[in-house]
Amino acid sequence: MHTIDLVILFCFILTLVESFPSSTEPPYSVFGRQNKVRPRFRRRELVQEEVRKTMLTYMTSLKGEITDVVLEEMIDYYNSQTSKLYRLEKELSSLKNSSLPTLQNGTTMNDLIMRLSKQQRSFASNISSMEYKIKNLTNILNDLLNELQKPVQHVRRLISIKKDFDDNEIPIDCDDIFRQQSPVVSQGIYRIKPRLSSESFDVQCIFENNTGWTVIQRRMNGTIDFYRGWDDYKNGFGDLRTEFWLGNEKIHQLTNQGQYILHVDITPWDSSMRTAEYEKFALDNENENYKLQISQYQSAISTAGDSLSSPWDNANGASFSTFDRDHDNLFYDNCALTYHGAWWFTSCFQSHLNGAYVRSPLALQNTARNGLHWNTYALYHSMKESTIRIRRKHTSETSEALAI
Ligand SMILES: *[C@@H]1O[C@H](CO)[C@@H](O)[C@H](O)[C@H]1NC(C)=O
Ligand SMILES: *[C@@H]1O[C@H](CO)[C@@H](O)[C@H](O)[C@H]1NC(C)=O
Ligand SMILES: *[C@@H]1O[C@H](CO)[C@@H](O)[C@H](O)[C@H]1NC(C)=O
Ligand SMILES: *[C@@H]1O[C@H](CO)[C@@H](O)[C@H](O)[C@H]1NC(C)=O
Ligand SMILES: *[C@@H]1O[C@H](CO)[C@@H](O)[C@H](O)[C@H]1NC(C)=O
Ligand SMILES: *[C@@H]1O[C@H](CO)[C@@H](O)[C@H](O)[C@H]1NC(C)=O
Repeated sequence: MHTIDLVILFCFILTLVESFPSSTEPPYSVFGRQNKVRPRFRRRELVQEEVRKTMLTYMTSLKGEITDVVLEEMIDYYNSQTSKLYRLEKELSSLKNSSLPTLQNGTTMNDLIMRLSKQQRSFASNISSMEYKIKNLTNILNDLLNELQKPVQHVRRLISIKKDFDDNEIPIDCDDIFRQQSPVVSQGIYRIKPRLSSESFDVQCIFENNTGWTVIQRRMNGTIDFYRGWDDYKNGFGDLRTEFWLGNEKIHQLTNQGQYILHVDITPWDSSMRTAEYEKFALDNENENYKLQISQYQSAISTAGDSLSSPWDNANGASFSTFDRDHDNLFYDNCALTYHGAWWFTSCFQSHLNGAYVRSPLALQNTARNGLHWNTYALYHSMKESTIRIRRKHTSETSEALAI
């Protein structure tokens, strides 16, 4: 019996199962939420359970077989002893019948009785030693079966630790998703949980240039009304598939777990897309009215001009304003109300991408200045589309993210 070999084999199988490759994961659909971690572990657990059951069945049958062999031996032995005893008894009885004279002597008879009882004692002692051996064997096998449970318990513990680990490993932003699940499709809706968030939530991710961008605002055709109050802007609104504002609270949580880059894409009605990028972007918390922290405009790669932090009307440090929470710099005016939107208004803005959607590029003068504005690109012009996205800046990214 090679019990040690079996245990080693079992552990080896468990190791194989542990390192089960994740290559059979399903491909990622563009707009399906991605929950690949759980099924993979459930499948792994199922395989482990299968291996455990097979090994236990095998060992139990082995135990049965061994016990059978020993019992058979014991029965053979018992049978041989029985026939011996039977022969002795026969000898005794024939002696009784035929040799009465010797009985008078008594010696032969006593001798016979002595031999008989000696045989019986030896028989009894051999039987009990055999029983002891069987008991010992049973104990050994039970110990072995218990041992067999141990690696499984160990693996179970590992799995539960891994699960905790995976829970902590819920991506904290789209860049995390890119790093965890690469290769990915160009964009989609994914679940993230920033370190500062108590709950996970869905975001739209754009994967580009070896990084993952978390989209915080999208305008495309005016299907969603952006003239909303403080709570809507705080919690977010719209549809991640079309137009939306992710929500100031979520943006605050995202941008306070590392340094974030802000990338604004605006598409005019009559021209191709323009870009403005800032190396530092963050929102303070609600007590600070989601104050905008923005700096390091990247003039080398930006084509739309700086309409957020230019000295002309610098929104850096500006509080967020909605029509029902006026934090702009004008005591005589409510910018959010006047311009039908919500933004980090100053007095009032250089940019305003949450304005009412206008289906033309035409300049809309003064108080009627609705629309999506980025003044450094075109004063009094409303944009056709806008996408505002953010990305965590990694210390290693100079060699990694800029590779492509
Ligand atoms: C001994 O005697 C008894 C009765 O007389 C008889 O039944 C038995 O078969 C005899 N045994 C032998 C071995 O001859
Ligand atoms: C009894 O038998 C033994 C041999 O078995 C013999 O030596 C002895 O003399 C006998 N005694 C009697 C009293 O017959
Ligand atoms: C008991 O076992 C011993 C050792 O296995 C053997 O020598 C002896 O003959 C056995 N006794 C009987 C009555 O079978
Ligand atoms: C019974 O098993 C123990 C180990 O569990 C072993 O040390 C001992 O020698 C065994 N005894 C017999 C009689 O097999
Ligand atoms: C990705 O790289 C291309 C080519 O360098 C560049 O034009 C584009 O703006 C980059 N995109 C982002 C989001 O940085
Ligand atoms: C805007 O675009 C989305 C997606 O293409 C579409 O479902 C929606 O109907 C459009 N809305 C308007 C007002 O054009």
